[in-house]
Amino acid sequence: MRRLGERLRPACALLLALALPWAGAFCQGRFEAAAVPADGPVPAEETPKWIALTFDDGPRRSTTTALLDGLARRGVKATFFLIGEQVPGNEDILLRMDQEGHQIGIHTYDHVMLTDLNEADFSAQVDRTRTILENALGHDDLLLRPPYGKVDDGVRKRAGCPIILWSVDPTDWDDKNVERIVKHVVNCAQDGDIILLHDIYPTSVEAALRIVDALHEKGFLFVTIDELAAQKGEKLEAGTVYNCFRP
Ligand code: NI
Repeated sequence: MRRLGERLRPACALLLALALPWAGAFCQGRFEAAAVPADGPVPAEETPKWIALTFDDGPRRSTTTALLDGLARRGVKATFFLIGEQVPGNEDILLRMDQEGHQIGIHTYDHVMLTDLNEADFSAQVDRTRTILENALGHDDLLLRPPYGKVDDGVRKRAGCPIILWSVDPTDWDDKNVERIVKHVVNCAQDGDIILLHDIYPTSVEAALRIVDALHEKGFLFVTIDELAAQKGEKLEAGTVYNCFRP
């Protein structure tokens, strides 16, 4: 897996390595209900688990707005990694995200791989987008998610903010099968995970809201990346790559 070469937190690297060979089977049996005696330990379902929903490649007015409506109805906060060139004309959506407590990050100006770029080209993708977002929001405390999760030393050095990847990826862009996407995420989700979805597909919006409902029932609470890190006692640092905050 490409992300293993990067500076993963050891727990994440181990989990990814363990999960690889067993894929589905490893995930499938995880949430089988265990009988808990009335006076025994608190059932897992009642212990709060923290998780972050993240959405890439937006904003796209029709789908992003529907998603924000659904998240608002559920009182759920998420993190959005935005494409700079899609912001003009959608500034009201960014302001809404901000006002409703969602977190915002950079996903480059027009969705290019950031590795092997020279300084000027990197700046044209990341700094330019940072300025666009700052002008729309009035603040520049942004995260960075490099497209395709590709990170090298240049990206780390120039990011100027924490680099956020993910630990649960249902490849929602692939077959756009809501049922499969929901099942994948609900079966794999663990305390401290970062889920990757894309708010530019109606199927992903539907899947995201069903994932929220299913994981709420399992005792998960949805928070932004900053809140998830804080909850796990991690201080996010510029230029550092984070895949998840599993205990
Ligand atoms: Ni992307």
